[in-house]
Amino acid sequence: MSNENEMNKDGYVVWMTGLSGSGKTSIAMVLVDKLKNRGLRVERLDGDVVRQSLTRDLGFTEEDRKKNIERVTFVAKLLSRNGVGTICSFISPYQAVRDDVRANTTNFLEVFVDAPLDVVIERDVKGLYKKAIAGEIPNFTGISDPFEAPNNPDIHLHTDQSSVEECAQNILDKLEALGYIPVLHSE
Ligand code: ADX
Repeated sequence: MSNENEMNKDGYVVWMTGLSGSGKTSIAMVLVDKLKNRGLRVERLDGDVVRQSLTRDLGFTEEDRKKNIERVTFVAKLLSRNGVGTICSFISPYQAVRDDVRANTTNFLEVFVDAPLDVVIERDVKGLYKKAIAGEIPNFTGISDPFEAPNNPDIHLHTDQSSVEECAQNILDKLEALGYIPVLHSE
């Protein structure tokens, strides 16, 4: 085994938190592409996908959101401790729950994917805000349910000011700076 393999035996967890439509999934997909292009082991866990399988029995009450993140944490813990970079994108509106993820995983990075509420309402990528404002979706984050902005995120992205590419690069640079992935001098 080379020293580099030894050095990289721990993985990491990039935890993207933010409102629906803030850009979490788009940034995660670009980031995963960049990491795969470098030949690194990486897995993506995304709210919309996980909620169709692992947590399809859950809704959006506070209790169910906590259970959703608890199960995801279990998977992220197994992946990250076995050297896999794990890119997670979940609204995860509660600070205490995000702190639990940090406490239970290896090399955790909290990334606040921040876009003002009026911007995500205007974007309304999935048409859900319109329905939530009309009262057709209960407990909708930002409209009729809380979102606790991170107290002290490791990375704070402003998706109304930066491109998806810039945001993904920002995370990549941080992973390099922390020594979680090897530094690539040519990029
Ligand atoms: S979390 O709060 O439990 O972390 P998660 O990220 O898994 O949420 O799922 C959020 C996605 O579920 C949203 O992007 C949206 O597509 C969908 N969704 C459906 N109902 C709601 C709701 N009441 N609040 C927020 N998102 C909802």
